[in-house]
Amino acid sequence: MAPSLQLFHTLKPLTHINRFSSTSSRPPASVRCSASAAPPSKRSYSITLLPGDGIGPEVVSVAKDVLVLAGSFEGITFEFQEMLLGGAALDATGVPMPDETLSVSKQSDAVLLGAIGGYKWDNNEKHLKPETGLLQLRSGLQVFANLRPATVFPQLVDASTLKREVAEGVDLMVVRELTGGIYFGKPRGFRTGENGQETGFNTEIYSAHEIDRIARLAFETARKRCGKLCSVDKANVLEASMLWRKIVTELAHEYPDVELSHMYVDNAAMQLIRYPKQFDTVLTNNIFGDILSDEASMITGSIGMLPSASVGASGPGLFEPIHGSAPDIAGQDKANPFATVLSAAMLLKYGLGEERAAERIEKAVLDTLNRGFRTADIYSAGTKLVGCKQIGEEILKSVESHIPAAV
Ligand code: IPM
Ligand code: MG
Repeated sequence: MAPSLQLFHTLKPLTHINRFSSTSSRPPASVRCSASAAPPSKRSYSITLLPGDGIGPEVVSVAKDVLVLAGSFEGITFEFQEMLLGGAALDATGVPMPDETLSVSKQSDAVLLGAIGGYKWDNNEKHLKPETGLLQLRSGLQVFANLRPATVFPQLVDASTLKREVAEGVDLMVVRELTGGIYFGKPRGFRTGENGQETGFNTEIYSAHEIDRIARLAFETARKRCGKLCSVDKANVLEASMLWRKIVTELAHEYPDVELSHMYVDNAAMQLIRYPKQFDTVLTNNIFGDILSDEASMITGSIGMLPSASVGASGPGLFEPIHGSAPDIAGQDKANPFATVLSAAMLLKYGLGEERAAERIEKAVLDTLNRGFRTADIYSAGTKLVGCKQIGEEILKSVESHIPAAV
């Protein structure tokens, strides 16, 4: 199989998935747009860039250049507006997500984020943590669905900590609920109990509506991939999971072409390492999705390779690598920019419906890997160890030299 097919399989087109409406009982036709759909008439887009902290600015700068070049081959132009988020926003304005960042993001066509967080702000009170800013942004944009593909690139199979025969060919998509559950549930907080013990508490809570809309999106995603959906919960213990399983099960009859299974999260964590190829699309809640997507990333060799797309019923999507801000290597030109570049490809494909430009980026990433260029996290003997900037330059060369076949 040509290496490129591997990636395209995971990134099957879900054009305008961000227009997915959870209120109608039938998903709108736009969700089913195929790769052959004509590009939208609007060919100039406003993009909000949120470089954030740590390695964020380095990887976003590479992805921006790649976006501009790939777009130019398709007659697309971009207007970028850079805004503050996370620690950078805290230092400049005193809050982790300034109102202006949300309003500019909302008015744009898509948002590209680097990473947030760092040692400096680790001991801040909760409302002054960079992570709180990211959650406020996700919630403010109402991007309830987080798509996290985990694809093992044939070129990087030996970078996986799993045996070659286990890792090879893995191609799965985690659909993580992003704006509900224990991350946002109330009551939450700290209190001092009767015995004088300090107590911290949170609430895992899901309404039927929240489960319904993410489950529909997951069924649609599975339908466009291999037609297999595994819903991961803890329905043997948690009420929120019991409702989750009930609603997902009830929806299955609307998607007879999708094979639905259920798995408890502890088993899923084990199965991901034991036999990851059994998974196609995985649907899960906010906290389980956070954990399982990091685990899935390791199968692929490095978390530095994995992009994500967060989309809602309307409005712009938020596109970000799933890795963090890596403060230990920030500013040293050691960061792996592939995940952010692939997030830019997801932005084009899922956020703007610009599939041809997205394919240019995907192909350029594969070409750069084929030519042997690696950052330290994915380096293996016989390949060329280079920095973040040079990977960016090599991807640009690949974009220039590769004209994708008509889609
Ligand atoms: C992620 C991150 C975030 C999360 C943090 C930074 C708040 O781990 O995007 O997976 O927990 O969602
Ligand atoms: Mg995480």
